This record gives sequence, C-alpha cells and structure tokens, in this order.
Amino acid sequence: MKRIGVFTSGGDAPGMNAAIRAVVRQAHALGIEVIGIRRGYAGMIQGEMVPLGVRDVANILQRGGTVLLTARSQEFLTPEGRAKAAAKLKAAGIEGLVAIGGDGTFRGAIQLMEEHRIPVVGVPGTIDNDLYGTDFTIGFDTAVNTALEAIDRIRDTAASHERVFFIEVMGRHAGFIALEVGLAGGAEVVALPEVPVDVEAVAQGLLESQRRGKTSSIVVVAEGAYPGGAAGLLAAIQERVALEARVTVLGHIQRGGSPTAKDRVLASRLGAAAVEALAGGTSGVMVGEVEGEVQFTPLKEAVERRKDINRGLLELLRVLAL
Ligand code: F6P
Repeated sequence: MKRIGVFTSGGDAPGMNAAIRAVVRQAHALGIEVIGIRRGYAGMIQGEMVPLGVRDVANILQRGGTVLLTARSQEFLTPEGRAKAAAKLKAAGIEGLVAIGGDGTFRGAIQLMEEHRIPVVGVPGTIDNDLYGTDFTIGFDTAVNTALEAIDRIRDTAASHERVFFIEVMGRHAGFIALEVGLAGGAEVVALPEVPVDVEAVAQGLLESQRRGKTSSIVVVAEGAYPGGAAGLLAAIQERVALEARVTVLGHIQRGGSPTAKDRVLASRLGAAAVEALAGGTSGVMVGEVEGEVQFTPLKEAVERRKDINRGLLELLRVLAL
C-alpha cells in the first residue's frame, strides 16, 4: 500500500488530533503517504484532500476538536453520494482509509467497503464510549473529566444554597458519561438511557434524602434518558411531588478541550495500530483496546453489538448515595 486517506466524521472528540498525528507518523515510518480528507464524508464527496506530512501534524497532539474538520453528510447516505466519494478516492490514488469516528462513521465505512471495495480500518473517536470492541473510546475520558469539573462547581453552589440540581450530560443513546461522572461526582441519582427511569422512585428518593437531613442533591441525567432530558425529568417529578430544583445542561462544553493524557495515549496507540493493520492487508475492522491490549473487532460487530454500562457501578452509586 502506497497511499492511504485519513478522516474524522460525526461528532468531534478530544484526542482525534492525536489519532491523526499517529496515523501520519506511523504511515511515514512504514513508507506510506497520507492524504487528509477534510469535513468527513461530505469533504470526501467534494474531493477536499490535503497531503499530510510528518511536520503538518506537529503541535496538534494537545488540541481538542479535529484539524481535519468534521461533518454529518446526508449525501453520503445515498448510493450516488458514496459512488462520488469512491471516485474521488480512486482519482487521488488512495488505496485504503483510516476512519476516525463513532457508529455513524463506521456504518458509512461498511457501505463504502461493500459497494466499492475500499479497505477501511476504524478508530473509535466519540465521547459517548458506545462502541463494542473497546473498553474506552477516544474522547470519553476527557469528556468525563470536563463534565466532572463542572459538576464539582455546581455542587459548591448547590451546597451553599441547599438546593437540588438536575445536570444534563451528553449521551443520546448511551449512559457511559452519566454513570461515570455520577459516581465520580457523588450524585444521588443518575438517569441513563439503558435503564428505564422510575419517576416515582426518583421523586420519593429525593424527598426521602431530604427527610434524612440531606440539604442538597445532584441528579445526573443523560440527555437521552428521559424525554426532554433533565428539564423533562424534573417536570415529570414536579407533577407528582413538590420539589424545587435547578437545571443545568452542560452541552457541547463536554466535546471540547485539550485531551487528557489517557485519551492522548489511547489515540496514539489506536491510530498507529490502524495504519499497521491496513498496511498488513486488514480491512473492515475497528481497532480498540480491551483490558490494555490492542484488539480488532469487525466494524459490523462494533456498531451492532451493544456495549452495556457497568451495572455494578450503578449499584455502587446507589449504595454510596446515602
Ligand atoms: O458525539 C456524540 C454526541 O455528543 C451525543 O452524545 C450527542 O447527543 C450528539 O453528539 C450531539 O451532536 P451534535 O451536536 O453534532 O448534534
């Protein structure tokens, strides 16, 4: 393989730049040229490509976001869009792709491989941590630490005013962030998409903790856990019981910022492993890290099999939230 392409797609995640750098430098070590494809699949369709040499990826390791830019492309969802993208790749002499992103990115990659025989290796880059075949996705650790810092600050004001706060974190379909920050931030309750929310139980639990002398509480709500997110859950509770509370939506703050050491190391490792795999003739897999070891999982399995939250951690949170 003489030339490969690398792109980022879907929601950005801290550490994507570290992965791009690793792809470029590992490829260089193997004598392979790298072309950066800008704006994900949208840019691929338009042929937005730039050669990336080892110096072009200097000083990006520590930067959040993605220097290649990202997008969610509607056109790529059509066979015509994918044909255009494949034609641009072939015209540019790109023989294989490293796709950095989440499940939407990998679903697109599967179609590109099946319809146009373009080899692809996926690198899991999403703050949601919702991909099967890796213990952690790139960006998750940073997002958790960012959310946690915000929650610690909210706790200060919650305690001073003796208030209840409902804090919404990202996670349309997955509660990994909510569970991790809930436990690390000492939340009284977490609401996750994976576990049906028992509104009555949450309401009674909060009143009960007030009766036990708790003057402030934190409820962490994943955005997809309840219709209307944190505000929706609070409204449903207020239909049942009298409870005064404030709502904070952390939103896109969680997607930005400099990646943690853990995310930089993970991104460097997985970016390099993806290139080695592609160069060795492997395709159609996601490279992940499982129990500290690099592991390859078919892209189809990575997106179709559901990675469950750690139910033991959820139980622990309930015990510790006294
Ligand atoms: O990157 C994944 C994610 O952060 C989800 O948790 C969230 O629901 C979604 O992206 C929001 O994405 P966007 O801002 O691109 O619509």
